[in-house]
Amino acid sequence: MIEDTLLQRRTIRKYTSKPVDDELLNDILMKGCRASTTGNMQVYSIVITRDETGKKELAPFHFNQKMITEAPVVLTFCADFNRFNKWCHQRKADPGYDNFLSFFTAAIDAILVAQTVCIAAEAEGLGICYLGTTTYMAHKIIEVLNLPKGVVPVTTVTLGWPAEKPEQPDRLPLKGVIHHETYKDYVAEDIDRIYSEKEARSDSKQFIKENNKETLAQVFTDVRYKKADNVYFSNMLLQVLQEQGFMNH
Ligand SMILES: Cc1cc2nc3c(=O)[nH]c(=O)nc-3n(C[C@H](O)[C@H](O)[C@H](O)COP(=O)(O)O)c2cc1C
Repeated sequence: MIEDTLLQRRTIRKYTSKPVDDELLNDILMKGCRASTTGNMQVYSIVITRDETGKKELAPFHFNQKMITEAPVVLTFCADFNRFNKWCHQRKADPGYDNFLSFFTAAIDAILVAQTVCIAAEAEGLGICYLGTTTYMAHKIIEVLNLPKGVVPVTTVTLGWPAEKPEQPDRLPLKGVIHHETYKDYVAEDIDRIYSEKEARSDSKQFIKENNKETLAQVFTDVRYKKADNVYFSNMLLQVLQEQGFMNH
């Protein structure tokens, strides 16, 4: 049931040794490629890594997160104008896709196909985990996967049969993320209310204690997603966009 697939899902980081056969993977990818795509251009590519050697090569650039080597399938979703540009050149058309807007368009396409693949996989009982390290280490992933100009990896998903069933993580209350008709900016009391449940959780309190912090927000700003790291990786990503031909205007 789609309802269960969506409401009961959680990220899976441990997988059994049972293989994911090609037929099933193809079926999932076919469904994923039915996702909406800008102008029906499909400006994305998906690189499948199944070989141990390929996974080992990728692992350090995903900060050795164990899912990379332990999952039977690793999917790297790329923003890709290379194929479309080639088609244009071969058909006497002059492509104007060497700019940031085009990268963003292709990145949206890649993310939409990724999430649709994830839902299709989860509907089959498979477990998935996104890896955000792809955007941090895009320059290295480009080397390992041999991605030409016009192609930028935007996210990675590990896929396999679940060997765990972790607690479902919390979400903010729906009211906290929805606005009716126009955006109603948050006053301090709204923020207190929206985050109160998350802050009251025992795992949040544990996080604060483990990291020797005063608030949960500080765990994010001082430990998990620090400004210095953001600035560093942001500059690297901008350089990748330049090198891959998306910052020419
Ligand atoms: C773009 C993106 C990047 C992510 N990167 C990682 C990652 O590098 N490592 C990891 O273990 N989980 C990663 N996750 C999974 C999130 O931590 C997870 O979705 C979140 O904690 C909510 O848990 P849930 O998916 O089980 O509801 C990522 C998720 C997204 C959407």
